[in-house]
Amino acid sequence: MECKILSVMSLAVGLAFSFLSLHPAYGDVSYSFPEEMKQGSVIGNIAKDLGLEVNRFFARKARIATDGGRKGYCDINLNTGDLVVAERIDREVLCGEKPSCALKFEFVLENPLELHLITIQIQDINDNAPIFQKDSINLDIIESAEKGARFRVNAARDADIGHNAVQSYTLQRNSHFVFSVQTSTAGSKYGELVLDKKLDREEQQDIALLLTALDGGTPQRSGTVVIHVKVLDANDNAPVFSQAVYQASLPENSPLNTLVVTVSATDADEGVNGEVEYEFGLMSDKARELFSINRKTGDIILTGILDYEEESKYDMFVEGRDGNGLSTDTKVIIEITDINDNAPTIHVQSLTSHIPENASPGTEVGIINVQDRDSENNRRVRCSIPENVPFLLVPSIKNYYSLMTVVELDRELVSDYNITITATDEGSPPLSSFKTIQLSVSDVNDNPPVFEEQFYSAYLTENNKPGSSVCSVTARDLDWRQNGTVIYSLLPGDVNGVSVSSLLSVNGDTGVIHAVRSFDYEQFRSFKVHVQARDNGSPPLSSNVTVSVSITDFNDNSPQILYPAPEKNSFMTELVPKGANAGSLVSKVIAVDADSGQNAWLSYHIVKSTDPGLFTIGLHSGEIRTRRDISESDNMKQNLIVAVKDNGQPSLSATCAMFLLISDNLAEVPELKDLSSDESNSKLTFYLIIALVSVSTFFLTFIIVIVAVRFCCRRKPRLLFDGAVAIPSAYLPSNYAEVNGSGTLRSTYNYDTYLTTGSHTSDFKFVSSYNDNTFPTDQTLKKTPTDFAEDFHASDDSPEFYSLGLRFS
Ligand SMILES: *[C@@H]1O[C@H](CO)[C@@H](O)[C@H](O)[C@H]1NC(C)=O
Ligand SMILES: *[C@@H]1O[C@H](CO)[C@@H](O)[C@H](O)[C@H]1NC(C)=O
Ligand SMILES: *[C@@H]1O[C@H](CO)[C@@H](O)[C@H](O)[C@H]1NC(C)=O
Repeated sequence: MECKILSVMSLAVGLAFSFLSLHPAYGDVSYSFPEEMKQGSVIGNIAKDLGLEVNRFFARKARIATDGGRKGYCDINLNTGDLVVAERIDREVLCGEKPSCALKFEFVLENPLELHLITIQIQDINDNAPIFQKDSINLDIIESAEKGARFRVNAARDADIGHNAVQSYTLQRNSHFVFSVQTSTAGSKYGELVLDKKLDREEQQDIALLLTALDGGTPQRSGTVVIHVKVLDANDNAPVFSQAVYQASLPENSPLNTLVVTVSATDADEGVNGEVEYEFGLMSDKARELFSINRKTGDIILTGILDYEEESKYDMFVEGRDGNGLSTDTKVIIEITDINDNAPTIHVQSLTSHIPENASPGTEVGIINVQDRDSENNRRVRCSIPENVPFLLVPSIKNYYSLMTVVELDRELVSDYNITITATDEGSPPLSSFKTIQLSVSDVNDNPPVFEEQFYSAYLTENNKPGSSVCSVTARDLDWRQNGTVIYSLLPGDVNGVSVSSLLSVNGDTGVIHAVRSFDYEQFRSFKVHVQARDNGSPPLSSNVTVSVSITDFNDNSPQILYPAPEKNSFMTELVPKGANAGSLVSKVIAVDADSGQNAWLSYHIVKSTDPGLFTIGLHSGEIRTRRDISESDNMKQNLIVAVKDNGQPSLSATCAMFLLISDNLAEVPELKDLSSDESNSKLTFYLIIALVSVSTFFLTFIIVIVAVRFCCRRKPRLLFDGAVAIPSAYLPSNYAEVNGSGTLRSTYNYDTYLTTGSHTSDFKFVSSYNDNTFPTDQTLKKTPTDFAEDFHASDDSPEFYSLGLRFS
């Protein structure tokens, strides 16, 4: 305000000088006045400045003349003579950018007409701020733009002039751009954004910068604009994988098309520059067959069959490439995990297929090796054999096992073993495999031959043919082949001074015992020999058995009737009392048989009688009894023919005649004369009869007593042989032994006959084998019977060859 006043004052002084120089009629006045003053503001006092009287202004119609419709910016206060602002004065409207701006008016007075020129210099005030043409400026700048690149920005405009116009620009602080003002060749001013540091779209894609334009007025005014910088992409980024190394693990039996791993790379660039495609880089051919990669997604999938045992790990490189060819790669490691897909394999490294049965327990008979191609637990194998075999599988070094015997083996019990070896791994589920090995036990001569019976008895009928078989002995030897081959031989010895080899021979192969000669029951009843069975092992084992040979009787003697005497002339008559009741003992037929057993088992039959109903004979006792009471009508003389049969096959028999006289009185005996054919002997016969009757009566009584005694003492009759029917020895007279003589040997001549008859040599095969050394006793052949005598007497079971006489004496 002060300043304004000063300027007004100076103007006034200037005007005063000009007034002085000018003619008073025509005085021009000039004022300087700021724009935009309030209505009524006094610009100056015209009256004073022109030296006019104010009180006459009214009368002289003082006024500011305006041209036509032009606005009158000023007015005159007729009372004071002041020039005042009538309307808003805007310099920018009146003069625009002109550096000086003056308003010219004419001050008119009438009576007299006076015309004064009033000039008002309008002074600029800073009433306008700088203005940019647009609110915002958009710039697209590629990120690859080099440092120093310039981008034009239109300058701001300020309606004010001079000092109040735009004086400077400030750019918001930022890291990429600076602002500089340039003057074009045409002289216009413009701004430039200058790239001070390279852009990176990937770091900052949009940059907003505030540009401020400042004027020089007081107070200072400013205008702003936002510069939007859009950073355009350049393919300056290669794809980047999310991991430097991808690791995946995959079980070996994975199905086809299993997703193994997904690689992923990102590219910071945009659009095509940022589109990544994947492909395999460096890798093995095998891996290329097994895996494939999806170009777009980076999924690696399985396209083949994995086998851990073939390859457990695959390494490969995957390349990621963007649309404009920038690429990087990454490593992919695929580890295959083991699955228990291989069963163990069993290898028999060595095997003793024939184990001697005397092998001591703990003998190693085989080495077994087991293998499994899998790994870790799947590879750990346990091996076993059944528990019911006498073998043990002992783990040895690593995966080797020894097969050992646990106990001593016995070939005779079990000769072959099929052992199934089971190998099981520890996978889940576990896999097993089996192998059967065959072991056989080889023989050792540990079993002697064993005779089937502890004792052999043979029965040989007397008068046998030399060479006939007596019996056969059999011994078994459990061993194998020659260790179990049995050879029979007769142990040397003698019987009653006769060498056994001259009695019997044994077939070394079959064990059949043959008689060398014909035997006579009445000479040898029984004897014993010893047979040895020996195997062919080395050393040989043997055992002995006793063979007891009993000679059995042949029915070669017919019964001999002792009473009544068979001779016709020794004619005897029994006296039967007339009053004899039924069942009374009348007489007895006495007979003996030199044979024994059945052959001497006699039976009595009445083959013919005068009166068949009257007498009966005891079948075995020979006692003649009445069948009914004797009656008067019965014939006095009764004749009986009695047959005596033995029980042999065929049976032999003898007959005798018995004369019975039914009478109480010997006086009737003369009638006996009729019975006798020889008259001269009748007297003698009569006495003989008497003597015989008395003797026989005595004898019968004696026999009855003996029989009674025998029956009391033993209910059973004494037997000559087991199984044979007994003959009560009491029936036989004590001196009978002398009677039999040697009549039973009637066929001994056969022996010689056969030995010399060529056609019968086949019966005597044993004779040749005997000489062929089949049993090694040929030295015994050379021995004389006396050589054996001692042996025989040494043994307590000396052969029996009792004669009948010995037995009954
Ligand atoms: C062992 O196996 C063989 C052959 O398979 C067979 O012939 C034999 O009888 C078997 N032996 C035993 C004792 O099982
Ligand atoms: C018989 O046994 C012996 C040992 O006593 C043995 O060496 C031999 O091999 C055996 N013979 C056979 C055929 O087994
Ligand atoms: C068999 O008898 C013979 C002769 O007396 C004897 O040397 C041998 O030891 C006997 N053998 C046996 C097994 O008793």
